[in-house]
Amino acid sequence: MSKISIISSSVRNNRSSHRVTKYLQNYLAENHPNQAVDVIDLDELNFPIFEERLSHQKSPAERVIKFANQIKESDGVIIVTPEYNGGYPASLKNAIDLLHPEWRRKPIAISTVSSGAFGGSQVIISLQFVLWKIRSWVVPAQFPVPNVDAAFDEEGKASDQEGTDKRAKNFIDELLWCMEANEKMSK
Ligand SMILES: Cc1cc2nc3c(=O)[nH]c(=O)nc-3n(C[C@H](O)[C@H](O)[C@H](O)COP(=O)(O)O)c2cc1C
Repeated sequence: MSKISIISSSVRNNRSSHRVTKYLQNYLAENHPNQAVDVIDLDELNFPIFEERLSHQKSPAERVIKFANQIKESDGVIIVTPEYNGGYPASLKNAIDLLHPEWRRKPIAISTVSSGAFGGSQVIISLQFVLWKIRSWVVPAQFPVPNVDAAFDEEGKASDQEGTDKRAKNFIDELLWCMEANEKMSK
């Protein structure tokens, strides 16, 4: 059974993008029941501000080691990120920089989220570059979410279920294709 980890990046009080994490988790459970899915919630993990990479830390915290193992063992990753001032939140960069070999050749699909009309369209380029730089494999598919509070309730239920599921299918199918291709090439 292959495994997908969904990184929920926002640590903001009363965050909304976590709704998208819940939606994608539920979508995968309903449509790909044989797929193991883990949510990596950066708010729960509450990492301190970056001081050093895991591989250079003398006594790393248990939760950092767990995070590294989760990424290492994942066949694919989804990053759900809000857009803050045209970029991604510091909590996400803080977590990305902790690891290095764990990201290599990892298929990563990005979902950008905003409360405005543009679905976080400005954050994607800078995040793609960072993920490319760290040698992951950015999946060429998007799941942008505009007007997040109207699009999903707190449990991740979509207000337009049919339309949202259709967009999620394109996004998830592309991630699964990349995961399968990666597995074949890694044998
Ligand atoms: C510091 C900050 C900066 C923001 N900048 C943008 C922005 O550049 N573009 C945008 O569409 N929304 C922006 N927003 C609104 C966010 O899209 C909105 O708060 C969304 O719900 C973010 O996800 P979160 O609730 O999970 O933190 C910003 C919000 C914050 C808190």
